[in-house]
Amino acid sequence: MAATAPTRSDLKRALTALRAGQAIGLPTETVYGLAADAGNAEAVARIFALKGRPADHPLIVHIAGIEQLSRFARDVPEPALRLVQAFWPGPLTLILRRQPSVPDAVTGGQDSVGLRAPAHPVAQAVLRAFGGGLAAPSANRFGRISPTRAEHVCDEFGAAVPLVLDGGPCSVGIESTIVDFTGATPRILRPGRITQDDIEALIGPVAMGAAAASPRASGTLEAHYAPRTPLRLARRDQLEATADASALALALAIDTLPEGAPGLALAIEPKAYARGLYAALRELDARGAEQIVAEMPPDLPEWQAVRDRLSRAAAGAGKP
Ligand code: TXA
Ligand code: MG
Repeated sequence: MAATAPTRSDLKRALTALRAGQAIGLPTETVYGLAADAGNAEAVARIFALKGRPADHPLIVHIAGIEQLSRFARDVPEPALRLVQAFWPGPLTLILRRQPSVPDAVTGGQDSVGLRAPAHPVAQAVLRAFGGGLAAPSANRFGRISPTRAEHVCDEFGAAVPLVLDGGPCSVGIESTIVDFTGATPRILRPGRITQDDIEALIGPVAMGAAAASPRASGTLEAHYAPRTPLRLARRDQLEATADASALALALAIDTLPEGAPGLALAIEPKAYARGLYAALRELDARGAEQIVAEMPPDLPEWQAVRDRLSRAAAGAGKP
């Protein structure tokens, strides 16, 4: 992607736009974000308007690194610091008690803030030059598939987001792991590349899934990350039957497509599968089939995040 990598003047334009309260498309290693100044309530409001996202859904604040943590969070528990030291910059978001200075517009009025230091070099360059925090949800319209390439952001928003920095295809491909430290025990709200095992190896047992009384978090709504085409989950043998029966269904297979079946196959290795998942869903969605039938990966820890995204895609798919 060297030919399209942002130049110095692209970065300058990005900083000018951010300082003026505009939203830009920003590459991270997980997915592309729609980024704006987290300290500017109007800029944050622009993100919600562009995404069509309900105002009570909090946004993640992106920072350059651990040295900015105390500007946004207070009373950071020791286990949270251990995770930060191990995994930042990287695909890990922590929910922490917020500093009073963090605008309500970012946190949905909650007493907590989501913080992440992305590792992508373009995100790092922008954050370091900007100096402050950047609120950035995934750069897709509410409920739709997250973008993993610059052109996905352009397809999603067109002229409404005039500046998208091209950082190439995202190396992780699914959203960050979210760990909530505001309750009695740490809790994984959203699985991702950093697994429950990775986290428990450092800080001991953590809970999994949203607590019953947890704040609204759109990544934890059942229907999310969804194509417009109805998507069904299937075992391999069911995939073969579907592909035989009708060319109106497209298969999303693991490793190889069943003989003669139309569709796409993704890698058998979970990280490589995750990297390709959203682009594959977009591509299948664009073919206008009646149905996408996705082969469900095995119920193993290394597949947990992919299984989570496929289940949500199935729950939300087929809505206009
Ligand atoms: O990988 C990622 O995390 C990407 C890239 C761009 O960094 N961002 C992302 O943002 O996925 P978004 O807004 O699509 O998802 C953020 C999730 C949402 O489910 C949101 O509700 C939750 O984080 N969240 C943010 N702040 C929170 C808070 N204070 N309490 C609970 N959940 C929070
Ligand atoms: Mg999102």
